[in-house]
Amino acid sequence: MTKNLDNPNKKHQVNERRKQMNTNTKKSILTGDRPTGPLHLGHYVGSLRQRVLLQHTHKQFIIIADAQALTDNAENPEKVRKNILEVALDYLAVGIDPKVTTIFIQSLVPELAELTMYYLNLVTVSRLQRNPTVKDEIKQRGFGASIPAGFLVYPVSQAADITAFKADVVPVGEDQLPMIEQTNEIVRSFNRIYESSVLVEAKALLSSVTRLPGTDGKGKMSKSLGNVISLSNSADEVRHKVKMMYTDPKHLRMEDPGTVEGNPVFAYLDAFDPDKEALEVMKNHYRRGGLGDGKVKQRLMEVLLAELDPIRIRREQLANDSSAVMRILKEGTEAARKVAAKTLDEVRKAMHINYFTNK
Ligand code: TRP
Repeated sequence: MTKNLDNPNKKHQVNERRKQMNTNTKKSILTGDRPTGPLHLGHYVGSLRQRVLLQHTHKQFIIIADAQALTDNAENPEKVRKNILEVALDYLAVGIDPKVTTIFIQSLVPELAELTMYYLNLVTVSRLQRNPTVKDEIKQRGFGASIPAGFLVYPVSQAADITAFKADVVPVGEDQLPMIEQTNEIVRSFNRIYESSVLVEAKALLSSVTRLPGTDGKGKMSKSLGNVISLSNSADEVRHKVKMMYTDPKHLRMEDPGTVEGNPVFAYLDAFDPDKEALEVMKNHYRRGGLGDGKVKQRLMEVLLAELDPIRIRREQLANDSSAVMRILKEGTEAARKVAAKTLDEVRKAMHINYFTNK
């Protein structure tokens, strides 16, 4: 053994094998976004930042969920189509590296649709109607009694996304927790009914900043509410949006004591200001009175632009060569399809519907 290791060639082989084992034992991640608009700061602190770090320690897949986006945009496929590139640009600009992360397009992995078909039989309609995120979305979209069937069942298709890649970890925002719960229920039902261990339960990974409020201070950032700062916004747009941001409505004069909790300007500073000590000093000053909103917003502009400038510059460079970005998506989709096809084979086998193969 020792002799072998003295041989540089052998040493190299052993190292290569170790490296391989490392990739094989790495935990898997599947996460993604609907391509319905450019990504914003809420996505950035909620999950993009984490994905950039996790891609080095995990085997990471990112899904651009166009089929899911179509569940409530059936009449507007052009919007979905257009945003595939926008979302891909956002990913690459924040530092998701296609050499280590597989980015792919959901609808071009039809194995996911087939898995969805089988999983739908393991879920009841009443269970789907209880999903709190879907319930909120139904209300928000004003569907009333006319809920598209595909929309109601999208959590099942999301279970297919997650399980096809045997994801152990799903880094998402809080609103996605019900999807992971639903996924794990399907995993348990499937494995029990078909006496298999093919599917793997997933764990949600929440970021420490669970929710960034909208610039209007109302709930979360959402494009439809017009209260977002996008990663692709120009520096002027960012400054303008910060200037217009909602603060403490009772903090009318500079001398008045102000409230930090629930004040979106401070929520953003918590998420972005690297100098936590100075931030504490500023918060105390604001609480005491004597610190104007303008000063606080000035600091927020500084820290936001420090983070967003390099992202915007990279994004512009990447946008100049969109065919290179589309190539990355094509290659990622091909790689993802292989993984999903393998899981689908195992699923069909567990269900004994692999009629023509005796694998
Ligand atoms: N539902 C997610 C969203 O609204 C997108 C998504 C689709 C997703 N499939 C996924 C997220 C699988 C995590 C895992 O943005």
